[in-house]
Amino acid sequence: MTASKTHHHDGRAGARSRELFAAAQRVIPGGVNSPVRAFASVGGEPPFIKAARGPYIYTEDGAELVDYVGTWGPALLGHAREEVVEAVAKAARDGLSFGACTAAETAFAELVCDLVPSLRGGLVRMVSSGTEATMSALRLARGYTGRPKIIKAEGGYHGHADMLLVAAGSGAATLGIPGSAGVTEAAVADTLTVPYNDLEAVKECFAANPGEIAAIIIEPIAGNMGCIPPRPGYLEGLRELTAEDGAVLIFDEVMTGFRVALGGAQERFGVTPDLTCLGKIVGGGMPVGAYGGRREIMAKIAPLGPVYQAGTLSGNPLGVAAGRATLEILKAENPYPALEETTRALVAGLGERAARHGVALSSTQVGAMFCGFFRGGEVWNYEDAKGSDTARFAAFHREMLARGVYLAPSQFEAAFVSTTHGAAAIERTLAAADGAFAAVAAQGQG
Ligand SMILES: Cc1ncc(COP(=O)(O)O)c(C=O)c1O
Repeated sequence: MTASKTHHHDGRAGARSRELFAAAQRVIPGGVNSPVRAFASVGGEPPFIKAARGPYIYTEDGAELVDYVGTWGPALLGHAREEVVEAVAKAARDGLSFGACTAAETAFAELVCDLVPSLRGGLVRMVSSGTEATMSALRLARGYTGRPKIIKAEGGYHGHADMLLVAAGSGAATLGIPGSAGVTEAAVADTLTVPYNDLEAVKECFAANPGEIAAIIIEPIAGNMGCIPPRPGYLEGLRELTAEDGAVLIFDEVMTGFRVALGGAQERFGVTPDLTCLGKIVGGGMPVGAYGGRREIMAKIAPLGPVYQAGTLSGNPLGVAAGRATLEILKAENPYPALEETTRALVAGLGERAARHGVALSSTQVGAMFCGFFRGGEVWNYEDAKGSDTARFAAFHREMLARGVYLAPSQFEAAFVSTTHGAAAIERTLAAADGAFAAVAAQGQG
């Protein structure tokens, strides 16, 4: 699977993938187990994946692609890192799940609490997805404060719990509106939305809802409207406003945790939230999430306190093994300076090639996550992101796929670099981008 000579680089769905997609659509809604995989916003059909190693994924049609999706974030060490796979295999031989206490869970929790600043001296609870982490943290914040309302950012994504599916960019910042059919207005009535990077809007929310706001949940680097860094002072401002009001500050580091620094965005920016949600990298590719933070707050969770939260597979041995192996490697190897440099060079190279072909591209990067918005100017919130030429992005996506580069099939997603993206993968990416930008420019605007 590593000999690229036996593979071609055209990642577009071929006959085999199309046949598999047709079969999938007969038994799975839309043929996918998570909507964005259907490629709806870029056109075409998704290539089916057979295997993945290091920075490459291999399609059922025999293509080898440089991967910037990284299983939507978890694959920071590249795909199928040997020590991680071995740790899972070893754990599996002793039983897949017990639903009971294990020594490995404690060792894992100690490691996570040691690495993430807001968890030091605190408590952490393992769950099985990022969605579970955020919904549990919010229930806890409400239970701890006895207050009903929460604030989230327009364009912020925190999983698919009802209260968080508020139409991004929707009307008044103080009025929650369901963003999905099946979500009742009651379920989102206590969800307030604000534009990202706008402290004034948060101040207004607090002023209009005195003593009612339980928590702000925020991605400390937005990663679900493309990648948008916090403006200088934004996170500090959120810290001050929540502290003054007695609301809980929750950093959703499901994406940024262990990616932009070993201790996540909170370490990178030096701002410590009350609670932190983790997912993706913390499970090393297995379904693991976690939420944790100040002991006094976490002590409200059952069985210590009255806030209920549970899970049959929480802390299961395979997830714990994969997560622990991954975090141990990150701690021992400190790949962050090299990741930063690789990503910086890649983003600069993409920018140069876009400019060479006259394609407007506004790039963002924090550590090993980045985004190229197809527009000029700067992008600081969801409104700005929505100003991108999504048709142009879709064309670029198709051209890159045809040249062997697998990008997330949406303008509003971040791209991820792994420790295995070496010179060969980066060069291949930049060569593909040169051709793709030229093709997009030739097609004209949009
Ligand atoms: C910031 C953030 N929070 C929460 C989630 C939800 O995590 P999961 O898909 O594991 O439920 C995601 C997933 O993309 C995310 O990016």
